[in-house]
Amino acid sequence: MEKKIIQISDIHFGEKTFSQDLKNNALKQIEDENPDLIIMSGDLTTNGYLHEYNDAATLLDELRAITEVHIVPGNHDARNVGLIHFEKLIGERKFVHIDKSGGFAILGLDSSEPDINDGQIGTDQLLWLKSELEKTPDHMCKIVTFHHHLLPIPQTGRERNILLDSGDLLRVFIDYGVDFVLNGHKHVPNVWMIENMVTLNSGTATTRKLRGETYPSYNHLIIDDGEIYVNLINTETGYKRKIANYSVKVDGKEYNICSYKHESLQSP
Ligand SMILES: [Fe+2]
Ligand SMILES: [Fe+2]
Repeated sequence: MEKKIIQISDIHFGEKTFSQDLKNNALKQIEDENPDLIIMSGDLTTNGYLHEYNDAATLLDELRAITEVHIVPGNHDARNVGLIHFEKLIGERKFVHIDKSGGFAILGLDSSEPDINDGQIGTDQLLWLKSELEKTPDHMCKIVTFHHHLLPIPQTGRERNILLDSGDLLRVFIDYGVDFVLNGHKHVPNVWMIENMVTLNSGTATTRKLRGETYPSYNHLIIDDGEIYVNLINTETGYKRKIANYSVKVDGKEYNICSYKHESLQSP
């Protein structure tokens, strides 16, 4: 059975390059896609201010009218004690959600630190994550989302955006059979595969805070029987471009991502 997931990130209400037109485009495009799940990987706001959070909560209501939405905070959301508003208006900062079909476990982590751009998961959250993954049945597709990068991403400039404890986290993901890791942060879309896990970074869907030749975009993931397709959607034009595909095998009780093919992200 086909499952469609939209990963959107770095909306940045309050940012001077935020575009209402891009936001409206994204909303319309997502509505037309009619996905099963929407995952937002942080930086809903720019400075963590209440008025930015109010705008984010309005967008969230609009997205929730389409389907279920799972959201984690980013470094910008933690500015100016903004996580108080996150908890009141958006939801929990770390969570385990089982989707309505029962086939997906979505685990959210808070990688933000107050008023700094660096990210980490920290020992307590790591222990919590392990115990939650232990309880998750093997047949479920395990998706973990947090804001900062797990792995280095090309075209992000000086590399300082990886979690301070990414190695420890990577170990847990591999040991516990996590299938997908979804991140945002530097507004550069990317897909890597490591062991049997796909790590997917989303660009910024709604701003022109863009590096190099990237464009406003978000990710579109289709999980079909035996196949996974990763597409990049240009928010400006709606153009959808394939960036990777994987084949999936259900081995006994376990769900495994096996062979894969990446398309170049540098081509037009
Ligand atoms: Fe951002
Ligand atoms: Fe960020």
